[in-house]
Amino acid sequence: MKTIGDIFISRRIFDEYIKMLEKAGHNVEVNDSSEILSKKELIRNTKNKDGLICLLNDKIDEEFLNACSNLRVVANAAVGYDNIDLETANEKGVIVTNTPGVLTDTTADLAFTLLMSAARRIPEADNYSREGKYDGWELMQPHMGVDIHGKTLGILGMGRIGSAVARRGAAGFEMDIIYHDKYSVKEDLEKEIEAERVDFEDLLIRSDFLSIHTPLTEETEGMFKMEEFRKINSNCILINAARGPIVDEDDLAQAIEEGELRGAAVDTFENEPKVNPRLANLTEFVVLTPHIGSASLETRREMARLAAINMIAGLEGKKPPNIVNEEILSGK
Ligand code: DGY
Repeated sequence: MKTIGDIFISRRIFDEYIKMLEKAGHNVEVNDSSEILSKKELIRNTKNKDGLICLLNDKIDEEFLNACSNLRVVANAAVGYDNIDLETANEKGVIVTNTPGVLTDTTADLAFTLLMSAARRIPEADNYSREGKYDGWELMQPHMGVDIHGKTLGILGMGRIGSAVARRGAAGFEMDIIYHDKYSVKEDLEKEIEAERVDFEDLLIRSDFLSIHTPLTEETEGMFKMEEFRKINSNCILINAARGPIVDEDDLAQAIEEGELRGAAVDTFENEPKVNPRLANLTEFVVLTPHIGSASLETRREMARLAAINMIAGLEGKKPPNIVNEEILSGK
């Protein structure tokens, strides 16, 4: 069979999708090591390839795109693509794709799990039980949590995932939903679950739980700093399963220490894979997880499948179903 393209995959994916790529006529090389490749190694492996399937921690910047001049398609196995310099990709006519939709509910499940875990102090209670410290039920329990039902859930960014989290809160826990989204009005959700669109300051002041679901952009980077934490409701638990750099973690840790907010549930870190040591020192109403928003077997399989489908379409000269820079096709 004629080989259509040479593809590099920056980290192990499910074998069936490697086979799918091979069946479509491509040569596939995979980084089979357990290491994330340095930029230099990623360039060395991708330099002569037509396609790259990469992850959100692969930095596809100008230097990379200049060095890999044969590249025609970059298929990110993630919905967020802030790791990719879209402007340079556009200049070079490189197709960029992502994996939207398939991870919406799984990520919303995780955001809600984090909310509940922080509110009911599950990791603290779990450790306590394992350490043999439980010596009898008492009214004044040492891990007294706070209620979730009936509280106000604030959503920053009412896109697919934000909407799915809001629905969980409204339908499952009778929460009042408020949201801030600079770019869209969600009339459907305003009718369906009586979600109320508010300005950012109101979101800070009124939310008992504030869940971040906005992409990382120049505008949202550092959106939560001490200034915002000084305004935030002191009962609030902040949930971030979006992108770490939206929150200044040192300020978050300090704000929790100073009682500006109750706690936080953090799945995405400012300097991944580093976990801020000040945050890691906080335990009360604080839950930390290693960017596992979409990490269910079913969803990760779907993400790999979509990345493969996008790659095959792109290399065959067709429009990939999840192209994010469609504008380049008109120039081709
Ligand atoms: C994404 O796809 O952007 C998620 O962060 C992965 O978990």
